[in-house]
Amino acid sequence: MQHRLVVASLMPPAVIDRARSEFDALVAQGPDDITGEEVLQAVLAHQAEALLITSTVKLNKALIDKIPDRVRIAATSSVGFDHIDVPAARAHDLIVTNTPEVLTNATADLAFMLILNACRRAHEYDAIMRQGWRRRFGQGDMLGIEVFGKTLGILGMGRIGRAVAQRARGFGMKVVYSNRTQLPPELEQGAQYFSSLHEMLPACQILTLHAPASAHTQAIINKETISLLPKGAVIVNTSRGALINEDALIEALQSGHLFAAGLDVFHNEPNYDLRFSTLPNVFLTPHMGSATVETRNAMGFRALDNIAAVLAGRPAMDPLWT
Ligand code: DGY
Repeated sequence: MQHRLVVASLMPPAVIDRARSEFDALVAQGPDDITGEEVLQAVLAHQAEALLITSTVKLNKALIDKIPDRVRIAATSSVGFDHIDVPAARAHDLIVTNTPEVLTNATADLAFMLILNACRRAHEYDAIMRQGWRRRFGQGDMLGIEVFGKTLGILGMGRIGRAVAQRARGFGMKVVYSNRTQLPPELEQGAQYFSSLHEMLPACQILTLHAPASAHTQAIINKETISLLPKGAVIVNTSRGALINEDALIEALQSGHLFAAGLDVFHNEPNYDLRFSTLPNVFLTPHMGSATVETRNAMGFRALDNIAAVLAGRPAMDPLWT
């Protein structure tokens, strides 16, 4: 008999197909975000032993406390897990897994896409073309800033931060980073470590964020820290919106202290602050860091591998704690 699984988020077709072939799977998600109550109803109705979610499903204490003991694992198809109340899950003996590694390159690519697009005014150029162009630009008009040779500051030098650094080296950039701990030389690959973010910021012509959302990183980019960046700096965020005080960012983009920003993540998703959409010097994407066919399939498969392992009595590959 197959194990019973509830898939509570929209997943790529290949992942759904595999879930259906390997498990007795109930796909509970429609086109809109599923509520905690709907997740619970699906789990109860299907007598599920496992739950597959993404970051759009809030696995909070209220929901976890109602999940029957029969459910042994909740696998999130994401590297971030700020949508999950980890202490509540631990107290409930619910194994939780995420999907690190498989999304590193796709997310680093998107971060670099935001760096290039923000620095080279891609949004404005694209808008001009869609409006028909039909006017001459002088040699001094609509100038962006060069990425090649700039100093890139990386906040959070985990796998994704390091993959961005790898790309930056191809662009002749100097890489500086701030992290809880200094990396060994083989992982630093020549990047300069700053134990203090405040001391690193004045050196950053471009700053890219790759730290998880936590009490420590909450609004770590704010009026004070933005003011430490050199005038004309660029900020890129593909981690979590919670790292940035959005009022302070908007003010700095309007005042010209910042040249531009590239943003994939926001405080309130999908209902992000529409003031960003009115700023010409912001390049925006709707939380798509891992959104390639290859990566989204790999993430879903990894989540299913974790579920299969736990339901077969083996250890999970990517447990959030051991
Ligand atoms: C992740 O994997 O954490 C992505 O940001 C999607 O939520």
